[in-house]
Amino acid sequence: MVRRVGARVPKRLAERAIRLLDELELRDINLKICRDNVHVYIPLRDGVSFEELGSIMDELGEVKLVPYEFPEVERPGDILDFLSDRLPPHLLASLPRSFDIIGDVAVVEVPPELEPYKSLIVEAIMRVHRRVRLVLAKAGAVSGVYRVRRLEPIAGSGGTETVHREYGCVYHLDVAKVYFSPRLAYEHRRVAGLVAEGETVVDMFAGVGPFAIQIAKSHEAVKVYAIDINPDAIHYLRINVAENKVEDKVVVILGDARDVIRERLAGVADRAIMNLPEKALEYVDAACTAIRPDGGIIHYYEFAEAPSPLVSAEKRLRRAVEEAGRRVVRVLAKRLVREVAPYKWQVVVDAEIH
Ligand SMILES: C[S@@+](CC[C@H](N)C(=O)[O-])C[C@H]1O[C@@H](n2cnc3c(N)ncnc32)[C@H](O)[C@@H]1O
Repeated sequence: MVRRVGARVPKRLAERAIRLLDELELRDINLKICRDNVHVYIPLRDGVSFEELGSIMDELGEVKLVPYEFPEVERPGDILDFLSDRLPPHLLASLPRSFDIIGDVAVVEVPPELEPYKSLIVEAIMRVHRRVRLVLAKAGAVSGVYRVRRLEPIAGSGGTETVHREYGCVYHLDVAKVYFSPRLAYEHRRVAGLVAEGETVVDMFAGVGPFAIQIAKSHEAVKVYAIDINPDAIHYLRINVAENKVEDKVVVILGDARDVIRERLAGVADRAIMNLPEKALEYVDAACTAIRPDGGIIHYYEFAEAPSPLVSAEKRLRRAVEEAGRRVVRVLAKRLVREVAPYKWQVVVDAEIH
């Protein structure tokens, strides 16, 4: 996400505004045009002046300049273009098709057969994504209680601490010390969108706060208890709560989710978020303890395999809820969140518990 001044126009004027901005080369074509129910937000080139926009503002009348978080236009093809005549054709297929950009840091997976071409690949990433300052290579799987992976610097400069923006929220984090995945951006927002005013939410595995903060930022009257066992995640979570100005809505707690819930949060939650896919099943009892006696909603994440990942995830959740002495009254939604290996997905089941 890039924070930039955008031209906000009513939907009916959007097409004309885009055309005019393009004619004057004032639109940033590297950022996506966004919309809500009423307006369209058109990203402007960095440093565009009021004078340059004057004629458009006059012609359309109802244009407002507003700061906005614009997603970047994905252009994986550009990397392929850049490398197509520099790599042996048989290796092009194993190019890292996906890499993560977190703030100004890129985290890339270089398969063994591409090792000799690593610097070329890094050059391609840095050319296509101009904001990237540091490129790190994955040097192991996400592992351990804190769900972090070993990373090795392969290009660029500076440390592993960065600032990432996601749907209007700002996250300070250290990619080497805490878990963070920009691929969960939609999921963070989806869950935040389901929360109703007045709810109490327990985010059991909060990391640096992308669920908790998005929820708190998008609602007036919510209380979110954000728990994590990793002191580094809690350090950044506290910074992020302050930076996003949600101190009055988010309570940050360092500790094991089960202990914290048993000691402080039994029966308080309208909603529990369980984003620890490797282990969530073991913590369903704790989520059930957090949920109010008259019921609530659990967002249960796990890694599930083909042939029927969603069906098997739901079955496991239902059984664990029953073992905890409660009952799934309704499955509200289930979806594949992302593919994590061939035939294996991170999935989510949203279930109403009684
Ligand atoms: C997959 S990450 C998810 C982080 C965050 N929800 C997000 O979307 O970025 C899981 C987090 O759970 C934390 N964690 C692992 N075991 C825990 C436990 N028993 N109690 C509380 N947090 C735990 C890890 O430190 C890690 O930050």
